[in-house]
Amino acid sequence: MSAATPPPGHELVVVEDERALASVAAARIAAAIEAAVASRGAAHVALSGGSTPGGAYRLLAARGPALAGAVWWWVDERCVPPTDERSNYGAARAQLLEPAGIAPSRVRRMEGELGAEVAARRYAACLTSELGERGVPTLDLVIAGIGSDGHTASLFPRTGSVRRGEAPVIDVVPGGGLEPRVTLAAPVLLAARRVLVLASGAAKREPLLAAWTAGDEDETPARLYLRAPEVTWIVDAHALPARP
Ligand code: 6PG
Repeated sequence: MSAATPPPGHELVVVEDERALASVAAARIAAAIEAAVASRGAAHVALSGGSTPGGAYRLLAARGPALAGAVWWWVDERCVPPTDERSNYGAARAQLLEPAGIAPSRVRRMEGELGAEVAARRYAACLTSELGERGVPTLDLVIAGIGSDGHTASLFPRTGSVRRGEAPVIDVVPGGGLEPRVTLAAPVLLAARRVLVLASGAAKREPLLAAWTAGDEDETPARLYLRAPEVTWIVDAHALPARP
């Protein structure tokens, strides 16, 4: 049985397990930061939450000096205070920002505690004033994940959120008992110079296969990366789908 692959033009890196994924992802993130700093003087990096990237963030923290030129943004946030255990900012602070000694002046957090609409508006203003004066804000690197339902960022299936582009940052009500979210909108994810999508574990097989197959983006929002210019999928062997 052969493995499925993303479409031509996308890079697929298959690693053995979650541990290897953390180390390969940390190395790729560090390399992207170095390249962006070398060519543009800064690296604007957007972090995702969830459990998958934590190992990579911890390893990245150990590269302290190599991160000096980075400015840290978020892909999405849950509407909870930054001290809540569900906070994506809180997780990244513990795994990466604090251990690496990153100055608060380099950190652009989504203020989930203000409620999704207000937080989205304020983050859109911040992103646009810093990165988007000439159109859609351009991040150097987006670190994304994929949910077992095919969501990415906080663009959830059958909410219409993946089709929204009226603002660079939007509020989303995911349903299913999840708290409201703030998320970068699809046009910002697609404008990023590079997207790394991390996936680990068997629950990601089915959504990965769907994301690599053209179809309705509202059914599988991670399909939007089929339209992104530079995508690397870092997938462990457990998550790798078989070719149908
Ligand atoms: C979040 C995320 C989200 C995440 C996926 C995968 O806040 O939940 O940013 O988009 O990347 O849900 O999550 P896991 O890594 O936990 O599987």
